Amino acid sequence: MKKLFIAMVAVLALASCAGKKEAASKSIVIYYSQLNSTKAVAEQIANKLDIPIVAIQPVVPYDDDFNATIQRGQKEMNGELPEIKPLDVKLEDYDVIFLGYPIWFGTYATPMMTFLKNADLKGKKIVPFCTFGSGGLNTSVNDLKKALPESEILPGYGVRAARLDAIPTEVDYFLKSNGFLGGDYNPLPDFSAQAPASDEMKALFHAAVDSYGMIRAEAESVCERAIPGGKEYFFTAREAMGGTIQVYVVDPDNGDPVFTQVVR
Ligand SMILES: Cc1cc2nc3c(=O)[nH]c(=O)nc-3n(C[C@H](O)[C@H](O)[C@H](O)COP(=O)(O)O)c2cc1C
Repeated sequence: MKKLFIAMVAVLALASCAGKKEAASKSIVIYYSQLNSTKAVAEQIANKLDIPIVAIQPVVPYDDDFNATIQRGQKEMNGELPEIKPLDVKLEDYDVIFLGYPIWFGTYATPMMTFLKNADLKGKKIVPFCTFGSGGLNTSVNDLKKALPESEILPGYGVRAARLDAIPTEVDYFLKSNGFLGGDYNPLPDFSAQAPASDEMKALFHAAVDSYGMIRAEAESVCERAIPGGKEYFFTAREAMGGTIQVYVVDPDNGDPVFTQVVR
């Protein structure tokens, strides 16, 4: 009877761990969020992996007013970084750090810069995640690689603040497809070959980006793939100011097309 009980406990323990990979046991989420969008992603990751989560906090909080934060952020980018409160975390206890930040001026926000300047992240695996108005995942990841040459920067996840309802599904896919979380997922197909954008595709592009206001561009070429519940497009577009951008657009079966990320 006792043996049977021990066996049952062992099976239950295995079952409860089955969704989480071994890497999760030495992982932590460290994030900065001014307006809670990045916090929402951070909490989703920490909950799914059942790992600790710590917030970076500036000593002097940012003003709620957007323009005031822009002005202060710009000054900090060009001058002295903001002070942050000491973090109650022993970094040496962790080997994987999920590092979250809002995109400010195309890269990670200045409180995260302060953290990176002072933290010893040598030899750690860094998994970046961010939220943004239009994009900045790739540029911020490139900056992380430069700032942390002795860390391993893994593929990251980014989402527009306007699409926070997509977080649960996308974070689940991100964690599973990168091996942090066990369980089934359907890998997305590759995109088709890039082809010149038809008038219909140009109209779809406009429908997806025009309401954002800060993207003034014309679609030149596009490729596509099927995704659950719709189609995803990857446009190359010429900006009115000159230069090229790449834009991911999702066109749901039920609903209007939205852009999910601009890549510069
Ligand atoms: C100072 C500042 C600069 C910003 N710069 C960018 C930018 O360059 N690109 C962008 O897409 N969004 C930019 N944003 C928008 C934020 O990235 C976006 O609102 C983000 O989701 C905020 O995250 P949080 O709620 O975690 O603070 C900026 C916001 C602020 C306050």
